[in-house]
Amino acid sequence: MSSSQKTTLAFRLAAAQDAPRIAHIINSAFRSEKTGQTWLYDDQKKRVDIVSVSLAEDFITGKSSKTIMLAGSFGADIVATCYLRRPDTTVPPPDHLQHITPGSAWLGFLAVDPTLHSKGYGKDMLVEAERFVQQEWKASRLEFDFVHTRTELKQWYVRQGYQETGMKRPFFYGEHGREILADGLEMVVLGKDLGGAK
Ligand SMILES: CC(C)(COP(=O)(O)OP(=O)(O)OC[C@H]1O[C@@H](n2cnc3c(N)ncnc32)[C@H](O)[C@@H]1OP(=O)(O)O)[C@@H](O)C(=O)NCCC(=O)NCCS
Repeated sequence: MSSSQKTTLAFRLAAAQDAPRIAHIINSAFRSEKTGQTWLYDDQKKRVDIVSVSLAEDFITGKSSKTIMLAGSFGADIVATCYLRRPDTTVPPPDHLQHITPGSAWLGFLAVDPTLHSKGYGKDMLVEAERFVQQEWKASRLEFDFVHTRTELKQWYVRQGYQETGMKRPFFYGEHGREILADGLEMVVLGKDLGGAK
């Protein structure tokens, strides 16, 4: 496909058997990120996968929480994905989501196959996530968090209509700790009112 061509993505719910492909897209997309924004090493060998196949399957099947994953594909070939958590007003949010605005749907792991970046597919996936939470869950707001040093990514989200909510939390460094990531990272919440359920 030449850089001027763009094929329309088809969207659907991911199924358990999609977990290996979904995990691969997320991990390769995050590994491909430019590092001028200081949160990752340039050296690919120092980068780590952020999602295992079993965790992707857990997200897809909603095993641990009220979650789904969306798949954007060309035919059978999934090339874009995102995680969505249903707004839940019946139970308090889990520990890692204490900074969510009550009643908001939550987005995560928005990712496009890195060979297809900058063609508008990320925006298309985000628009589909917004449509899904409005139509399927009657959610009127979508939120997510991002690493605060990724200023270009934030500007991209601002162009899609997202604004800071004022909430943040320390970055979860996990088992690899500060060996692989910059020190002092924070996760900052962005959100968008979706204009009422359609
Ligand atoms: C963030 C991410 C999902 C964006 O996906 P993408 O498909 O590259 O994004 P888009 O193409 O929709 O938008 C990026 C830019 O590409 C350019 N672009 C958009 N459509 C284009 C087209 N048809 N032709 C050429 N360039 C285009 C634009 O500059 C656009 O920015 P703008 O819409 O604000 O002007 C992708 O970079 C990714 O997978 N990153 C790694 C994972 C990650 O960091 N996820 C976010 C976690 S919070």
